[in-house]
Amino acid sequence: MLDSNYEDFKKNVLALTKIDLNCYKEKQMRRRINTLITKNKLKSYDDYVKLIKTNTEKFEEFINFLTINVSEFYRNTDQWKLLDKEIFPKLVEGKRQIKIWSAACSTGDEPYSIAMALSNHTSLSNLKIIATDIDKQVLSQAKVGLYNSKSVSGVPDDMKRKYLTKVGASYKVADEIKNCVEFKEHNLLKDPYPTDCDMIVCRNVVIYFTDEAKDEIYRKFYKSLKKGGYLFIGSTEQIMNYKDMGYLRHSSFFFEK
Ligand SMILES: C[S@@+](CC[C@H](N)C(=O)[O-])C[C@H]1O[C@@H](n2cnc3c(N)ncnc32)[C@H](O)[C@@H]1O
Repeated sequence: MLDSNYEDFKKNVLALTKIDLNCYKEKQMRRRINTLITKNKLKSYDDYVKLIKTNTEKFEEFINFLTINVSEFYRNTDQWKLLDKEIFPKLVEGKRQIKIWSAACSTGDEPYSIAMALSNHTSLSNLKIIATDIDKQVLSQAKVGLYNSKSVSGVPDDMKRKYLTKVGASYKVADEIKNCVEFKEHNLLKDPYPTDCDMIVCRNVVIYFTDEAKDEIYRKFYKSLKKGGYLFIGSTEQIMNYKDMGYLRHSSFFFEK
């Protein structure tokens, strides 16, 4: 147990970083922060605040540490180019309805990017995206659909013009994009998975899980996909035994059932 008050600590962090820790799951975040503070050989939140106020490297370490919910539109742009050129044309072929699951979607940047990118290939009225995350708070942010300029900096200009409106210093996602997406709370380690998906997008979350849990998740995704459906994974992720699971490897981050 650390000395001093966590409530004060959250206020200090907000003032220093503009990151509101009240928007993060407290139990998990607090445990993680406590570990980080102990690793820095300190015993109180106040001492840790003094440290990050005066030491730029430690400040950066703290910011990186907090960014587990961080997402952005069109994250890893090269993969979105590949989606647009190779995956989406095949995905929409001969289909009236397209069902996509964005798993661990965080603040919604990813499912909204999918809707924007797919609008080049099909009518938005054909598209249903189920976007899930374990964290209620990020889901409520996602439903609001308001983002800072950094989050949307990767959005191609034509999509920006069509689907984003500037509101003060923020950008608001158009209703026609929002209407394609249904946000739901879902724990990848525990809850039943959606079925009959044409595509599953699950990026930058399994890195927090054990190999066994990761393996189980990729096998369950396979069951959730329709034949010919695609799994899109994060740029730091790999599926070593994808063949055993039944996937065909399209490219580093896309696997086909
Ligand atoms: C780094 S974000 C990834 C966001 C987005 N997929 C992207 O790549 O930009 C990781 C997300 O995984 C969520 N998460 C963590 N554990 C989870 C679990 N067991 N089930 C579902 N979501 C989980 C977190 O709440 C967080 O929003």
